[in-house]
Amino acid sequence: MKKVITYGTFDLLHLGHINILKRAKEKGDYLIVAISTDEFNALKGKKSYFSFNERKILLESLKFVDEVIPETDWDQKIRDVIENHVDIFVMGDDWEGKFDFLNNYCQVIYLPRTEGISTSKIKEDLQVN
Ligand code: CTP
Repeated sequence: MKKVITYGTFDLLHLGHINILKRAKEKGDYLIVAISTDEFNALKGKKSYFSFNERKILLESLKFVDEVIPETDWDQKIRDVIENHVDIFVMGDDWEGKFDFLNNYCQVIYLPRTEGISTSKIKEDLQVN
């Protein structure tokens, strides 16, 4: 069984998220999504509209997501890949090159982002914070 992992906050779930998760799952058989905890977001100076638990429930209800795990720090990726026997690491191409060091442990793939949509843009358009 080929395992795929991807990371993000996935706040205000939108089509760009759906597109990348669907394409990530198509790379293998089992998709793990690691989502930033509220504490980790605070550390990055970010605050999501939906809490970690709300984002987790939303993602778990998608048919191409098999498992959701917390992302609590910058350095856990190697550990996650090894412990979960991950074959493929997927990120949007806004992160192009940033995770090439994982190549020693698994295949690293950057997928093109969906144009014209992001959580920040939704917040801006709706003027919510
Ligand atoms: N993503 C994508 N296409 C978009 C938006 C996001 O493919 N239009 C991907 C990102 O590249 C990342 C994943 O979805 O791999 C989670 O991204 P996240 O940062 O949570 O969403 P954004 O909408 O980019 O949020 P923000 O505006 O806060 O940066």
